Amino acid sequence: MAGNLTLTMIKPDAVKKNAIGGILKMMNDGGFKIVAMKYMHLSKTKAEAFYAVHKERPFYGELTEFMSSGPIVAAILEKDNAVEDFRKLIGATNPAEAEDGTIRKVYATSIGENAVHGSDSDENAQIEGDFFFSQQERF
Ligand code: CMP
Repeated sequence: MAGNLTLTMIKPDAVKKNAIGGILKMMNDGGFKIVAMKYMHLSKTKAEAFYAVHKERPFYGELTEFMSSGPIVAAILEKDNAVEDFRKLIGATNPAEAEDGTIRKVYATSIGENAVHGSDSDENAQIEGDFFFSQQERF
C-alpha cells in the first residue's frame, strides 16, 4: 500500500524569488497537510549527505553547491498516496517539460534550479524525513 508521507524542500532559487508562501499555498491547495517544517541553510556537507544517492552523477557537485547556496524550507507533507501525488503536483524535473498548473511550471528556472524537491519513493520519503526531523518535530 502506498504511504501517506513525502519530504519536500523549497530550494534556494525559490526562496530567493520570495516564493515560499506561493509554493506552500499550492501544496495546501493540492491537499497536502504540513506535518513538520524548517527554514534553514544546508551546509555543503549536509547537502552532499542528503544527495549521496546521486554521488556518481556528473551534476552532483553543481547540485550540492546550489543546495547549499542559500536557505531552504524542508517539510514533511501528508496525504493519501503522498509520493506519487506530490510528484504530479511539482511536475517534471526539467521545467521545460512541466505541465501547466504544476509548481515547477510556475516557479522553476532550469533542471538544476527547479524550485522544489519531492521524494521519489516511500522508502526515500522515510529516509529523507528522518534526515531533517525528529519524532518530536512532527505534528
Ligand atoms: P531533485 O528532485 O531535488 O532530485 C535530484 C536533483 O538533481 C533534481 O531535483 C535536480 O534539481 C538535479 N538534477 C537532475 N538532473 C540534473 C542535471 N542534468 N543538471 C543539474 N541538476 C540536475
